[in-house]
Formats: sequence, structure tokens, C-alpha cells
Amino acid sequence: MLPKLLKNDYHEATKLSFLSVQIDPNYVDAATQPAPFKRYPKFFRRFALDLENPTHSFLHFTSAITTQKMYREGAYSLRVNPSAGALYPTEIYVQIRGINGLLDGIYHLEVETKSLTLIYELIDDGLEGYLVDSRLIKGYIFLVSCVYFRSSWKYKNRSLRYCFLDSGHHLGAIEASAYVQDYTAQILFDFDHLALNDDLGFENKEFVTAAIVVGNVKEKPVRRLRSPIPFVCGTDYFEPNRFVEAGYKQTLLPTNHQQEISQPNFQFEKAKFLQSIQKRRSARRFHQSQITQEEFFAVWESLNQPIATQSDDAIAIYAVIQSVAGIEPGIYRGKESLKTGNFREKMGYLCVNQAIARDSAVLFFFVSEFQNYRVALQLAGLLGQRVYLSATYLGLGCSGIGAFFDDETQAFLEAKGSILYAIAIG
Ligand SMILES: Cc1cc2nc3c(=O)[nH]c(=O)nc-3n(C[C@H](O)[C@H](O)[C@H](O)COP(=O)(O)O)c2cc1C
Repeated sequence: MLPKLLKNDYHEATKLSFLSVQIDPNYVDAATQPAPFKRYPKFFRRFALDLENPTHSFLHFTSAITTQKMYREGAYSLRVNPSAGALYPTEIYVQIRGINGLLDGIYHLEVETKSLTLIYELIDDGLEGYLVDSRLIKGYIFLVSCVYFRSSWKYKNRSLRYCFLDSGHHLGAIEASAYVQDYTAQILFDFDHLALNDDLGFENKEFVTAAIVVGNVKEKPVRRLRSPIPFVCGTDYFEPNRFVEAGYKQTLLPTNHQQEISQPNFQFEKAKFLQSIQKRRSARRFHQSQITQEEFFAVWESLNQPIATQSDDAIAIYAVIQSVAGIEPGIYRGKESLKTGNFREKMGYLCVNQAIARDSAVLFFFVSEFQNYRVALQLAGLLGQRVYLSATYLGLGCSGIGAFFDDETQAFLEAKGSILYAIAIG
């Protein structure tokens, strides 16, 4: 039995330091990696996605495989969403109601085969029944979930962070695909997670982290699923991690959400933006090259667009400017200069001796005095997805950085809040 931990304890207990990395360098035998794709049994009906159809294309680009990379251990399918260690703990389910050509039901998005698996047909019931507002939604309700063992297999307790950051990236990928189709989306973090996990048949092996609604609200209330969906394991084998399970449960307490919902107003050219979704990759090195001020501010602009959610966990953005034409190198909080200087070596060191942090043009840090760890990390991941896509759109490289010496980084930035995530562009 784990002692009951408070919200900040999960952050505290998963910090990296110079010493912790020496003691546990995180080596795993690649041959034991759990399966990265969930498959429902063959008897569930599948519908192939036809990319000529805008609805199918919308669903496909929330999660698509966009390239294959060969490693010694075999081929890796890389996707529109990045993932810490390319372990892809996230899955997508989508309830579809009142959309031409698709049966009303709950589908699992089977990324590997580019298809939708119908796992539940709707009658008078649906996912609305688990939301705070249970009125019928005509359109789509996406659920992002985590098959956490895919990540805890390697990252142990710190995988709690990566599950939430990866979920946030996936939310960002859905936001992006919706933008291409001119759809507006609303992100929900508060709903009856436990009942939903039970009814979706997740046992303790998978959990829902967020929902996104793309559709119109009707007056009629909807009841919860009339029968549970059978359990299907998202991996080929499973080892529990009670810390991750307890860390998730701790975030299910209700949080404040007074904020009015504002929609982001991106100014991308849609066809080029869709290409950026398809082309997005993590840069594997930078060359200390300079970027222009226009490029920096274009990324900044997309980062600072509102996030369409009522949740009000605030993320402060710190930018370590290393090489932007006309901007003095140094640390900035928002647009306020905190200290000037060349911190390349320090940044490389703080990000666990990663050259991409040292050699980038800008290193962003997302910082928060969060109320809810799950929500704050997902917001950071979503912002990370925006940085990736706007950088790709501009022809720049980008990489998420989830590994940093927590306390030393926080002290160096003189930040009050916790460091949730870093992301480099160049
Ligand atoms: C939460 C998160 C943390 C990451 N941390 C690092 C990191 O510390 N160092 C690194 O080189 N890449 C990092 N990455 C990038 C992943 O390695 C990359 O997304 C994955 O290999 C898939 O490749 P792709 O992004 O090109 O599709 C991170 C990505 C995410 C989403």
C-alpha cells in the first residue's frame, strides 16, 4: 500500500537530479517493450478510413502514422503526435453521433490499420452521461486515454508525467486536425473518470485523461452506457505501477474552473498547415543557427492563443533566447527580461546533458503552480504540440524535452512554480 501523497508529492517524487540520473540511468532491454498498439478482437466491426472523405481525414490526422524508422530492434511507426521515448501510451476513442455515413457509436481509432473499430452502438445512451453537462452532443466526443505500462515500462514513476504530457500532445493533435476542417473544439478535464474507466472496461491498465467535444449541444439529456464494454488489454503483457495508478487517482478531485471559454485564433494557411501536421518530426540535433525575430514571434503568437477549456491552471512560459536576430540572449518570462547572457552550456547541462538544448535557438520552459497535476501537464503538452506545428510550418526544427534536472532548472530560472516541460526550436 502506498502512503497517501498530496498533489505536489507526485511531482516531487519524480524529479531528476544529477545524482538520481547517475544512480538510475533508465536502461531497459528493448526486446521487452510492450506492444504500442491496442487491438480489439476481430469480431468488432472495422471501418477503413478513406482520406478523400473530410470526416475520415479529420479523424485520421488526429493520430496518424506519418513515417517509419528502422532501429536495431525493428521498425518504429512515428505519428502526428510526438511521444516521450516514442512509447505512445495514448489511445483515442471517439463517439460519433449524427454524422453522415457513420453509425452512431463509440469507436476505437486503430492507428496501425487506419481504421475505426466500432466498440459500442448508441441507443439512448452515450459518453455525454459522464460529463458535467449530460446534454446530447451531435458530432464528436474524443477521449484520450493512457495505457500507462507502455511508458512506465521504461520511465517507471516518472512516466506519470510523460503519460500526461503525451496526452496533452494528443489533445494538441486533435485541436490541429479540427482547425484544418474549420471545426471548433472544447477540451474537458473534469468528468466522472472512474465510472467512465469502468464502463470502458479499462480495469487498472488504462485511464482516460481528457475529452474533447467537437459538435453541437442539443437539449436532450443522455444516460450512461447501458452495458459496459469488455476489457481488452492495450499491451501484450502488463506490469502494474501502483504509484502511477495512485498519481492518476489523486488528480480526479474536482478543481476550479470559472474561466470563460475562448477559442484560439490561428492564422495558418490550411493546406500548408495540414502538410506541417504530416511533416512534424523531432529534430535530433541543432547547429546553433540563428532564427529571425519574425519566426520567434510567430511561434510565440501560436503559443499564446487561448486554450478552449474552462480549466484555469495557468502555465507561465519562460523563453531562454540563445540565438534570435535582434533579441539579446538571456532568460525571459513572457516578454520580461529576467537575466541576460549566453547560457548554452548551462541549458545543455540542465536538460540532462542534451546537445539539442544547448544548440537550439530558443528553449521554452513551461512552468506552473498547478492545482491539478494531470490538467497542468496536459496543458503543457498541448502548448508543446503548438510549438512543434508552428515551428514545422515555418521550416524550423523542434524537440520536446521531458528530461531535465528539476530543482536546478527551477532555481536557475528563479521560478516559483514547478518546471513541467521544456521544448527547443532552432
Ligand atoms: C513528453 C515528451 C518528452 C520528450 N523528451 C525528449 C527528450 O528529453 N529528449 C529528446 O531528444 N527527445 C524528447 N522527445 C521527443 C521524442 O523522442 C519523439 O517525439 C519520439 O522519438 C517520436 O519521434 P517524432 O517526434 O519525430 O515523431 C520528447 C517528446 C515528448 C512528447
